[in-house]
Amino acid sequence: MLDRYINLLKTGEVVAFPTETVYGLGANAKNPDAIQKVFEIKGRPSDNPLIVHISDKKQVEDFASEVSDDAHKLMDAYWPGPLTLIFKKKPEVLDIITAGLDTVALRWPKHPLSQQLIAMAGPVVAPSANSSGKPSPTKAEHVKEDFGTDFPVVDAGETEIGLESTVLDITSKPYTIYRPGAVSADEIERVTDKGVIRDSNPSNNETAKSPGTKYSHYSPKAKVRWISDGDTTFVEEALYLLHSQPTPRKNNRVIHYDGNFKKMAHELYDRFRHADHQQLQYVFIEPFSEEQLQNPIVQALENRISKAIG
Ligand code: TXA
Ligand code: MG
Repeated sequence: MLDRYINLLKTGEVVAFPTETVYGLGANAKNPDAIQKVFEIKGRPSDNPLIVHISDKKQVEDFASEVSDDAHKLMDAYWPGPLTLIFKKKPEVLDIITAGLDTVALRWPKHPLSQQLIAMAGPVVAPSANSSGKPSPTKAEHVKEDFGTDFPVVDAGETEIGLESTVLDITSKPYTIYRPGAVSADEIERVTDKGVIRDSNPSNNETAKSPGTKYSHYSPKAKVRWISDGDTTFVEEALYLLHSQPTPRKNNRVIHYDGNFKKMAHELYDRFRHADHQQLQYVFIEPFSEEQLQNPIVQALENRISKAIG
């Protein structure tokens, strides 16, 4: 079933495939022409670097110039899985991948189909398989919505997590999280026995280091807003995403997650896209409490929703 996609990758074509986080738009990491196509298809600015996806810890050495003890600890603890690590790069890593930075982002995804694809076709660069600025795809249909019904997608249904991987820079200390994800800051601190900088706020100078954080992201056409305190008015042309506050209304415009934040993360981007299909004006989301924000998946949700708000 994968043969066709493996051949496409080997011959310099671009293929979308599932990971445990979101669908990726893959191209052979050794082929600059194929990688150029990824930027063109997505409409991605060329100064935003790509993650290289590998299928074996040994492949790290083909891209990273130094692999510290902490890097080994993190890889052993979380790979394969939703953690992207930023290493100092080897000189032979293509500039088009790293946008000219002296670092390279590496990730070993957990989804069995992504592992087979990479094992057979070799390492692939893969940004999320959405048009730049759109919500990341969590279903093959989302990819086809953005790139056309004939676009080659390895279809494995819905992705498990639904939000992109944690991005962690381990090239300088203290280590810095550029993008929160399912692997939490607390877990990283425990594994490395070192404090990490968790502030992924793009206004605080990280933009130069992780260019992706400066672009608007994850946004549907509908305006995304937090529900403000005490606001009980109900807007007709809106989708409501609630997780804790009681509501007398439950219908297809009022979704209640009843504290199931994993489900909320799993569905968030699909709900955003749905709001656009229904031409809604707004997506209103119940804000998270300090206590809820102790949960890593809630931190990732808060980050993506804040970016969608802009
Ligand atoms: O879960 C994921 O990570 C998904 C799946 C497909 O693996 N991929 C993904 O890729 O979200 P993308 O390109 O949409 O987001 C990668 C982020 C961007 O914000 C980019 O700027 C950052 O990682 N990044 C990549 N290489 C970097 C580097 N060398 N230094 C700093 N940030 C980097
Ligand atoms: Mg993306």
